[in-house]
Amino acid sequence: MTKRVAILISGGGSNMEALVRSMQGDHPARAVLVFSNVEDAGGLAKAQGLGVPTAALDHRTFGADRAAFDRAVNDILEDAAPDIVCLAGYMRILTPAFVEHWAGRMINIHPSLLPKYKGLHTHQRALDAGDTEHGCSVHEVTADLDGGPLLGQAHISIEPGDTAETLAARLLPFEHELFVKVLRRYAKGEKAFVTLG
Ligand code: GRF
Repeated sequence: MTKRVAILISGGGSNMEALVRSMQGDHPARAVLVFSNVEDAGGLAKAQGLGVPTAALDHRTFGADRAAFDRAVNDILEDAAPDIVCLAGYMRILTPAFVEHWAGRMINIHPSLLPKYKGLHTHQRALDAGDTEHGCSVHEVTADLDGGPLLGQAHISIEPGDTAETLAARLLPFEHELFVKVLRRYAKGEKAFVTLG
C-alpha cells in the first residue's frame, strides 16, 4: 500500500523538493501535502509547481499559544491523512502533544552529525569547535529536540577557509540525498541505518 507523506517546511523547501521528486517515480510513498507555518514560503510555490496540495498557517496569529497552533496544524494534517510526516526545514519547536501524536511516523533532517550540535547555528558551531568533519542526520522525532533515534547520516569534510555559508551550501545536496534514501526505506518500514560520505 503506497504510504501518504506530508512535508512541513518554513523556507525554500529544497529538501521538500528532493523528497517530492523522488516520490514521483517508482516509490513506496507519495506526497499528499506540503504545509508551511510561513504563508509566503518559497517552498509552497515549488510544491504547487510539482502538483502537490499545499496549506499554510501563520504561527504568529496564535501568539505565544504554541499548543493552539500545533492543534490547528494537526487538524490540517489529519485532513491529508498522512502515514508519514517529514520535517524539512520546519523551524518550529513542536509541542509534546504534537510529537506524541505523530511518534513513530515523523522524521526530521538536521544539519549536523547528531548528537553533536542539536539546535541552531550548527555550521558555525562546528567551525568554532575546530571540527574537521561535519554532516547531516535524519532521525525520528521525539520529545527530545533533535534527539530521536538516528536513521542515517551523511559526512563531509570541513575545508580550510570554510565559512558557515560555504559549509551549508556544500552540505545541502547531501541532505537531499540522505533524506531521499532514508524516506524510501522508512516508507517500507525499514530502519537500517543509511550512511553517506
Ligand atoms: C536545511 O539546511 C535543513 O537541514 C535545515 O534547514 C534547511 C532547510 O533548507 N533544517 P530547505 O528549506 O530544505 O532548502
